Amino acid sequence: MDGTKKDFISLGAEHSHLLTVRGKRDLSFFDLYSVSQVTHSDLSLLYDVARAFREYKTYKFSFNKGISQINAFFEASTRTMSSFDLAAKQLSMDTTSVSGNSSIQKGESYLDTVQTVDSYNVGVIIIRSKESGVAEMAARHAQASIVNAGDGWHEHPTQALLDGLTMLDHAKTKDLKGKIVVIVGDIVHSRVFGSLVRLLKMLKAEVRVAAPQTLLPKHIEKFGVKTYYVVEEALAGADFVYALRVQGERGANGFIPTLREYSKMFGISRKRLDLANKDAILMHPGPVIRDIDVHSALSAVDHQSHILRQVENGMAVRKALLWLIADRLDGKKKTFSRK
Ligand code: NCD
Repeated sequence: MDGTKKDFISLGAEHSHLLTVRGKRDLSFFDLYSVSQVTHSDLSLLYDVARAFREYKTYKFSFNKGISQINAFFEASTRTMSSFDLAAKQLSMDTTSVSGNSSIQKGESYLDTVQTVDSYNVGVIIIRSKESGVAEMAARHAQASIVNAGDGWHEHPTQALLDGLTMLDHAKTKDLKGKIVVIVGDIVHSRVFGSLVRLLKMLKAEVRVAAPQTLLPKHIEKFGVKTYYVVEEALAGADFVYALRVQGERGANGFIPTLREYSKMFGISRKRLDLANKDAILMHPGPVIRDIDVHSALSAVDHQSHILRQVENGMAVRKALLWLIADRLDGKKKTFSRK
């Protein structure tokens, strides 16, 4: 179906299509702060709906009118913030932002800030923070649905969800059994890893991590992954190569000799990618730091690079999530005591 020509629809065929795809299914969660909350049924519901939304890329749906979304990004963001914002707008939600240099920097607590914006009776609050655990704490104290857009070194659930969709679409399978996913880079500081590894285990993938020992968490084995200190060994036979940025703002530069030396040993080059399976794809959550985590020879539009597809899937997954959450706002507000 070509949905690109119309720019506004109401309860037309497209809405009916979404309702049919969804059936009687509901998400099992109201807030999303960790991939561990997501069940197999949630996953198939989200992916079915996201794939349907993907058919109507530029449509402005009118069904979430009257629901507002606060983008509370207490740490900088490009794609996560813009895609959550655009996704909400394309569902006819109103959005506004509170940014990192506001009340938190003046000394207000996260809880007071969240409860302040929650008092607008918004439906959804998207939260990103430098510290771990903020979204989960907020979820316990807010009436609105809280969605974690990245908390410190901990988790980034919607990133993992969009990555999972990208992988399943490429594999053309229902799970990733028998597939090898190699995650390369700054694992210890990565909330992307925190969510992705949980999802990949759920999807039955074999997960390999390749990094200098200093960029791995102490008890990495508890995630059920195989550890490699030589990236070439990890890449042999890989189906998915997932590169991570060296997160300097979290002190990562103190864990490696120099970025140049890191890149020489772990940066994904053409030659290294060629060690993976022929139809393997390269993924990255962005931002890509050229010639450090991914070499320039592998452009964003290289046939093996699915980095921009990940971004596109981010819109679809976030629309699906917001649509399904918004539905649960009707008469199903959380009961809590605001102290
Ligand atoms: C990541 C993040 O901020 O957690 N990016 C993203 O959200 N797409 C990864 C990173 O910053 O390296």
